[in-house]
Amino acid sequence: MSVPARPGWIASRGTALRGEPAIPGDKSVSHRAIMLAALADGVSHVDGFLEGADTRATAEIFARMGVRIDAPSASRRIVHGVGVDGLRAPGGTLDCGNAGTGMRLLSGLLAAQKFDSVLAGDGSLSRRPMNRVIEPLSRMGARIASEEGGLPPLRIRGGQRMHGIDFESPVASAQVKSAVLLAGLSARGETSVREPHPTRDYTERMLSAFGVDIEHSPGYARLRGGQRLRATDVAVPADFSSAAFFIVAATLVPGSALRLRAVGLNPRRTGLLAALRAMGADIAEQAHASHGGEPVADLVVRHAPLRGIEVPVELVPDMIDEFPILAVAAACARGTTVIRGAAELRVKESDRIAAMAAGLRSLGVHVEERADGALIEGGALRGGAVDSRGDHRIAMAFAVAGQLARGDVLVDDIANVATSFPGFAELARRAGFGLRAR
Ligand code: S3P
Repeated sequence: MSVPARPGWIASRGTALRGEPAIPGDKSVSHRAIMLAALADGVSHVDGFLEGADTRATAEIFARMGVRIDAPSASRRIVHGVGVDGLRAPGGTLDCGNAGTGMRLLSGLLAAQKFDSVLAGDGSLSRRPMNRVIEPLSRMGARIASEEGGLPPLRIRGGQRMHGIDFESPVASAQVKSAVLLAGLSARGETSVREPHPTRDYTERMLSAFGVDIEHSPGYARLRGGQRLRATDVAVPADFSSAAFFIVAATLVPGSALRLRAVGLNPRRTGLLAALRAMGADIAEQAHASHGGEPVADLVVRHAPLRGIEVPVELVPDMIDEFPILAVAAACARGTTVIRGAAELRVKESDRIAAMAAGLRSLGVHVEERADGALIEGGALRGGAVDSRGDHRIAMAFAVAGQLARGDVLVDDIANVATSFPGFAELARRAGFGLRAR
């Protein structure tokens, strides 16, 4: 019996990239918008919601807990909040799909509920570390059981009396910070989180937009438990991490000029811009505005030759999701690029250091893999076959590599692109990519 082939792409050189591809909504902001709107008193409208598998899974979970969520049109949601104490026991396992953000933030939010719950996910999520949230939440009084080694599913025992803590996070992770803050909302007393390096602050900003009194500055946040949330409308900016594939493609493909409208430019997300500019990229920002309290701008990207750099370690958390595509930029640059201090990449949707090193090597690139990064020699790419390891960002990064390689790049296992960027292939083709289903 033959095993059905996994969906894949053949990526090959297309034309110079042109136009204004419309980048979908931010994944981090979409998850949080559903969560906070569900917990708020009143009705919230979410505009620009990401119609991805990850964020839809989060919406489905709240629907299972009794929250009415209307979808009047694509990328719009109307959330009828039930209040911080209004969620109902879901009955049955809650499926977070591929989403680490969904599972980790929900673990904090559910630890303080009256009812028991179980959080599970797909094969990739089931291999991702959850002790980083279980430990601080347990210190707050939560009872959470996991599989051996802190792996999902998570079995959360409700009805615990949670209390605030002062948490010094050992890891620079917005998901860990957010889990603790969301638990802190329902805990007695104050909860504070200090991070080893500032991470994205969407939870803090959005809690404040929902009327919660929260003090925060880069790397620090503190709130008092027992506060209620007031419904508000959320305008979700275009996702910088999705825009990144087009930014790098337009930089690399000769003759390209792309405009990406109203992309979210939260400084904790845009480390890639600094790295690419240091490599010689031509990326202009126009029409700066604020989109629901988040900075946005149009990005105008023109082709420019790149040179290798040592990526400054302090930029790593600000570009943590962009290393797959940065590695492709590095492979096409003149000289060597060195990535250090990025061991977190080993526990993302795949081991992204290993996945990129293996994929780039099959395209003829010299890569030295290190425990916390890699050294990538720039040069010409040849065609070859690469395995995305089920990781959306690895798949899209190699679709970009195919625009530069001298032969076809076969990208295997692309189904999870739909977790963060449904419609990527169509949008990329319209901009000029050579990209077809295998
Ligand atoms: C996210 C935080 C980051 C990032 C992920 C989304 C978030 O993860 O990699 O894609 O929405 O808080 P960590 O907090 O684990 O670094």
